[in-house]
Amino acid sequence: MADIKFFTGMDIPLELHKVRMVQKLNLQPVERRVEAAAEAGNNTFLLKNKDIFLDMLTDSGVNAMSDRQTAAMLICDDSYAGSATFTRLEDKVHEIFGTKFFLPAHQGRACENILAQAFVKPGDVVPMNFHFTTTKAHITRLGGTVAELVIDEGLATTSDNPFKGNFDLDKLRALIDEVGTEHIPFLRVEAGTNLIGGQPLSLENMKAVCSICREHGILTVLDASLLQDNLYFIKKREAACKNMSIREITRAIADEFDIIYFSARKLGFARGGGIAMRDKALCEKMKELVPMFEGFLTYGGMSVREMEAITVGLEETMDEDVISQGPIFIEFMCNELMKRGVPVVTPPGGLGCHLNAREFLPHIDDHEYPAGALAIAVYIAGGVRGMERGTLSEQREPDGTEPIADVELLRLAMPRRVFTMSQVLYAVDRITWLHENRDLVGGLRWEEEPSSLRFFFGRLEPTSDWQQKLAKKFREDFGESL
Ligand code: F0G
Repeated sequence: MADIKFFTGMDIPLELHKVRMVQKLNLQPVERRVEAAAEAGNNTFLLKNKDIFLDMLTDSGVNAMSDRQTAAMLICDDSYAGSATFTRLEDKVHEIFGTKFFLPAHQGRACENILAQAFVKPGDVVPMNFHFTTTKAHITRLGGTVAELVIDEGLATTSDNPFKGNFDLDKLRALIDEVGTEHIPFLRVEAGTNLIGGQPLSLENMKAVCSICREHGILTVLDASLLQDNLYFIKKREAACKNMSIREITRAIADEFDIIYFSARKLGFARGGGIAMRDKALCEKMKELVPMFEGFLTYGGMSVREMEAITVGLEETMDEDVISQGPIFIEFMCNELMKRGVPVVTPPGGLGCHLNAREFLPHIDDHEYPAGALAIAVYIAGGVRGMERGTLSEQREPDGTEPIADVELLRLAMPRRVFTMSQVLYAVDRITWLHENRDLVGGLRWEEEPSSLRFFFGRLEPTSDWQQKLAKKFREDFGESL
């Protein structure tokens, strides 16, 4: 999105696209929303779409596709082996990343499975700026652990540091000295970060991290799932990159890493994933796992239609007007909430607007899951579905103790080019109302707790009848309104 000034001084983002296909939405009455919350075990993952108005659960696989992506889906080459569609995707990956080998996979976590199986042994430590849920689950399943080396400010919910996803280089050097390179199968950079509010890293920091790894012979892996937002932030916030094109920044990043993997549910605006690298030996180490778990080497579990859409989506990612839409809408939403006193993570990052649940609901103990409670309260308040990114998203230790998350966030994802300005303002309105009535919100406790990735399908119940009280207050304040 270009910076377009309004004569009236209005400060709003302006879309540089038009909408050519739409989907009807439902907004259920608040009483139904309370019922739906109970049916879903107070877990927003278990809500049914018919009960949701604005689905801000994730940006994964739900970004609006362009006319060119949709058109490309019609001309795919449907063959099991040697598909021309795969060659087009492979060529595009190599063109933008400067890589030579590409292994397809059905989505991002499948790449993580392959990487973990190929490199991680019991006792290994994988350094990263911050973990992602599925990444950590694959590493720990194989007996490894994760070391989080993000700068201290990365965990400060409010800050003006433009690159809160950066590594602390001293922590990295200290970790290498402490565990020894033989126990570090690879270092992973998540650009940008997911669980700490979509915060980016600078190109300068990525270069410094990779240079330390090269010095010690440590393999470097880039998780590029959220790279599109990070590219935009580098262009806007890193003075040294101001005059570089998005394509040049992408290439400068990619040149630093040994392996790049991505979820094409995010990067590429479609559904799929893959792992790219320059070195043949690295490819050979992972290659056999693709036909074993994903599908043949020329589709890796992806449909040819999706591969065509990813190819076009990757090219469109090189267009600043395309990739700026998410960050600019997120910034707008965060600013509107801040104006009304609602605590959000700052600076606004990529992926979504993140509410700081500990500050929003200070009366809820961490063991009663403030971010989980806020997620279901926001749903009841407005039919808006967000995702808990806090203690519920953590895994219990093998001895059953529950680690309390560094940050308790409710993520309101901004699927790219999906929502209109008035929909965003509606979400801001209902969240503001909820904030004014935050004392009514209570905690949650487990009803059914799965042993791993519990946030996906665990069921919880409210610790009191707070949801009925919240709905009653909604009726008093909004009358007959939905
Ligand atoms: N890495 C990052 C940084 C991610 O955000 C995700 C997914 C993955 C890897 C895994 O990719 O879903 O294609 O298997 N994030 C989604 C989310 C699930 O909602 O944030 P996947």
